[in-house]
Amino acid sequence: MLTNKSFLLKTEMNQKSNLLLGKIVSSDITQKLSSSIKDLKNKNIIPKLAAILVGDNPASKIYIKNKSKFFVKNGCESETFNFSSDSNQSEIISCIKQLNNDDSIHGILVQLPLPKSFDDSIILETITPKKDVDGFHPYNVGKLFSGNPQFIPCTPHGIIKILDYYKINTSGKNCVVIGRSNIVGKPMFALLSQKFETGNATVTMCHSRTNNLRHHTLNADIVVCAIGIPNFLKGNMIKKGSVIIDVGINRIVENSAKKSYKIVGDVDFESVINIASHLTPVPGGVGPMTIAMLLYNTVSSAKLNNT
Ligand code: GUN
Repeated sequence: MLTNKSFLLKTEMNQKSNLLLGKIVSSDITQKLSSSIKDLKNKNIIPKLAAILVGDNPASKIYIKNKSKFFVKNGCESETFNFSSDSNQSEIISCIKQLNNDDSIHGILVQLPLPKSFDDSIILETITPKKDVDGFHPYNVGKLFSGNPQFIPCTPHGIIKILDYYKINTSGKNCVVIGRSNIVGKPMFALLSQKFETGNATVTMCHSRTNNLRHHTLNADIVVCAIGIPNFLKGNMIKKGSVIIDVGINRIVENSAKKSYKIVGDVDFESVINIASHLTPVPGGVGPMTIAMLLYNTVSSAKLNNT
């Protein structure tokens, strides 16, 4: 019989071996990108991102800072353009138009969500599709859905790279995507269902109005959870041996007296870890992939726009 201690040890080992570590996949991708970055540098081209930050959403500020640091660490450049939340939308639009025509800029992103007074569509559609490294412009959305992508949105692209790295076959599998956002859910649906080696899945898209969500998730071989609710997906909602991808990054109060926070995902780690065959942890799972794929898209853009 297992003692308490050896049971804990076994659980710990299990937990380690079935984790899908995006931070490892991210290093693999950046290492592969380094030769392209060197080749560009030899031609005096340094891939450069222009990041537009509107307002003072603390999470957005951190994301932009992390993206910037990551670019510099990998021999690229990043410049942030800050606008206050009471700026006029036309100021942002004219900034984007200048960046569109600036040959030293290869990628432009507007950090989302924007404060409520701004119109996401108008702003995102101002970015030239050639520099749309987030892949949110309708031109790039259309290219993705028609099976001929130019820039693929970073988070779902990163998830495909994780599945590919860990040799998790998607062909013919039942996949459930929870969440229908333009950033994750919809492009995830397109990628998993399309006729590529890393797709070919039967995909069900679920969302806040889905009836009997558990009926769908219990039947899924792969679940991508991007619903934005801390610890939402529980162990009793999934099939034994399924692959669970946690896209959530939720900041919750750990100790209100000390004002300390911790980051948790949309998946209830404790109840899912011993039922799933594989699970992405939070942090260290999907998060690092979003930044790596942004670098990937920006380097592709630098190559594309200089050949
Ligand atoms: N907000 C959350 N994820 C993203 C992303 O991938 N790109 C941008 N621009 N904003 C985001």
